Formats: sequence, structure tokens, C-alpha cells
Amino acid sequence: MATLEIGGIDCRRLAEVSGTPLLVYDEAKIEEQFAAAREGFQSEQFETEVVYAAKAFSCKAIFEKARQAGAGLDVVSGGELYCARQAGVDMKKIYFHGNNKSEDELRMALELGCGTIVLDNRMEAERLVQLAEEEAKGINVLLRVNPGIEAHTHEYIQTSGSDSKFGISIRKRDEIQELVKIVTESKYVTFKGFHSHIGSQITETEGFEKALEIMIRFIKEIKEAYGIQSDWLSIGGGFGIKYTASDKPIPLGEMAQILASACERLLEENSAELKKLLIEPGRSIVGEAGYALYTVGFSKDTDTKHFLFVDGGMSDNIRPALYQAEYSCDIATRMGEPKDKTWCIAGKNCESGDILVREAQLPKTAAEGDLLVIYSAGAYGYSMASNYNRAGRPEVVFAKGGKARRVLRRETYEDQLRLETDESII
Ligand code: LLP
Repeated sequence: MATLEIGGIDCRRLAEVSGTPLLVYDEAKIEEQFAAAREGFQSEQFETEVVYAAKAFSCKAIFEKARQAGAGLDVVSGGELYCARQAGVDMKKIYFHGNNKSEDELRMALELGCGTIVLDNRMEAERLVQLAEEEAKGINVLLRVNPGIEAHTHEYIQTSGSDSKFGISIRKRDEIQELVKIVTESKYVTFKGFHSHIGSQITETEGFEKALEIMIRFIKEIKEAYGIQSDWLSIGGGFGIKYTASDKPIPLGEMAQILASACERLLEENSAELKKLLIEPGRSIVGEAGYALYTVGFSKDTDTKHFLFVDGGMSDNIRPALYQAEYSCDIATRMGEPKDKTWCIAGKNCESGDILVREAQLPKTAAEGDLLVIYSAGAYGYSMASNYNRAGRPEVVFAKGGKARRVLRRETYEDQLRLETDESII
């Protein structure tokens, strides 16, 4: 019986050493994705920067990979910023996002010398200017605007208004002008340009090209109308990956190339200029590189289903329960066997919705002790994991060329109790 290998290592061996549930990253695949983005995203007309969106999967080891690849880092919280700092990330390459950054987080960004804050609203602009003055620290800002496009996997809908909690609607030009004025009057805060992000798991280019077109026209118009100079433009992340056979994403390198060229063309058509174009891929860097390994436990038949239970579930991957996300899987210890039975892969969390794969075509011989692998599990699984039912977060391993290293150890019962206390406070 053939067993799946990841990074040149037999899954059985990985499970023996590390236990399950286990998240294994094919480290070479992460490197390839960073390289593809960097190589594809180039222009002779403007500088380009690939910024890894930490929310997809964050730990010191992946931040280290981003650093080695020359990528910047998009963080959205003090926690991600702290982790980046501990990983030795160049603070100048950090882009701090979020619609409701706290005063502590803004101060922390200033004190650590974070390169850029992506401002989300007017109150934040005022707060940042005030704090930067208090701290006497300089910082760049981009302003997140909402181009009025909601992109979905296979379609995009143009929305004239915007009810998004993020950013300012691109139609609110006066508000944008006022906000930029607040920032440019500060001697510590430097306005660099605009940011937009249209969605996630987008597998076609149209939505991005449309957003680019809207943003470039906007930059030109706002310069003519108000004299606002935008040097940088970030078009966010959201590049789709392959979860199941029906997903047909454009490879990241190609997508990056298409966007850089589209930007060149649109700048020319609109006689506009930019100094730097940025993208923020998260999922497309780490998603397909991640393999979730589970041990099969009990199985049972109902009138309509054949359940196969595994030793993890929604506590380590909430995406199927939360978004009806679909994944493909295999019995890693029975590769090559005929897939002659439809199984329902359920987790062990105490909730009926804890189903990882609704209908998985797998060998009928699948049995207790086998390993189940879920593919493309590297993005928004671990980062959205919880301790529901006091399940410990899985161990995470990076595998490459027949060697493996543990980058996050398994969360133990003691780890979970470390927050428990009993102290009188008021
Ligand atoms: N930049 C901004 C401003 C974002 O809001 C996001 C994702 C990204 C970049 C990275 O997007 P990516 O390349 O990873 O698609 N939890 C959801 C995804 C939420 C994405 C939120 N923003 C999921 O599991 O599908």
C-alpha cells in the first residue's frame, strides 16, 4: 500500500513522530509561491512589492520565510505585529491594517518603527496624527478605500455604494480629501497613497483588473481635483487556490504578471503615474502548501451516510462549518487504492456541523488507524483554530527534502490551563 509523502517524508513517519492532528507544510512549495509572486510581479515602470498577509497563517517560521523571500508583511493586530517583531521582520516592511486599531496598537506600531499604517477611517487618521505627535515618531500611511466591487469566486458584482466595515467608499471624495488633509498637515505622518481589497479566493482576473482601473482613474481624478499625490497603490490580496477539482485558479505568478502589466497599461491609458504597486497574497502563498493529517478513528453508518471520524475537526479547521468550504482529501495510507466508497468525514468536536468533508470518494477499506489527509489546508485553518471543547491546537511541521522541523508544538492540556487564575481584582 502506497503512503503519501510530503516534502519527501512518508506521512506515517510524520504521524509517528508528531502525532495527529498534524499540519504539515511542504516548505519548498511555500518558497515556490513566494518566488512566483516576486518574479511575476515586476515592472520597469514602477517598483513592486509583495506583502504576505499574515492572517492566512502566522508564526515566526512563516514570517522568517517571508523575510528570506524579500516580502513585506501585512499584519492586522498587535499580536501579529508582536510575532513579526519576535521573528526579526524588518519593521519598515510592515503594513498594519484594520478597521478598529486600538490606541495601544497604534502606539506599539509607532514605537516599533512600523513602516506603514493602512488607515481605515477618519477617526483613525485623527488618532494616529495625535499619537505620532506625542511619540514624535514618523510613519507612512495608505488610505483604504472601497472601490465598490465585491468579488466572489466566479463573479464580481459592482456595488455603487458601500456598506463594508472596511475603508471609505471611493465615492466619498470630500471625506477622502479631508482625511488626506489631516494626514498631510502632520509633520510625522506621510501620506503615500491608497489601498483596496476586493475579496478572497478569487480565481479570475476581471475583478482585480476592474479594481485597478477604478483605482487608477480615482488617483488621477483626485490629483486633478484636490492636488492629492498618490505614489503607492496596493490592490490587496485574494488570489484563489485549488481546493477541489472544480477550482481553476490562475497560478499566482501568472496572476501577479497579469496585474503588473494591467497596471502599466492602465497608467498609460490614463496618463497617470505610480511609484509603487503592492499586492498582499496570503492564502495563495501558504494554502496549497499545507496538508492536514488526521488519524481515522471510529466509523459508523446511518441510513444515508457512511461516517469516518477523525481526531480533529472544526477546532483546527472551522472553514467547512463556517463557510461551507470544500476540500479534497485522501486516505494517505492507502494511496492508489480504488476510491469506491462515499464517506462523510466528521470531526470529534461536539457539534453536528463539525463535518470536514461532506462527500469524500475514498477507498472502502478505510479503517481505524489509517491517516486521512486534507489538501490545501495551509490557509485560515490554524490561524482560525480554537480551543473549542478544549481541543489543543495541532502541531505544525515544515517538511523539505526528506527533513522535517517542528515550528509550532502541539498545545497541551497544561498550555490551556496556563491562563487560569483566581485573584481578587476589585
Ligand atoms: N489584504 C487584505 C486587506 C485582506 O483583508 C486580506 C484578507 C488579504 C490581504 C489576504 O487575502 P488572501 O490572499 O489570503 O485571500 N477567513 C477567510 C478569509 C478572510 C480573508 C480576509 N482578508 C477564509 O478562511 O476564507
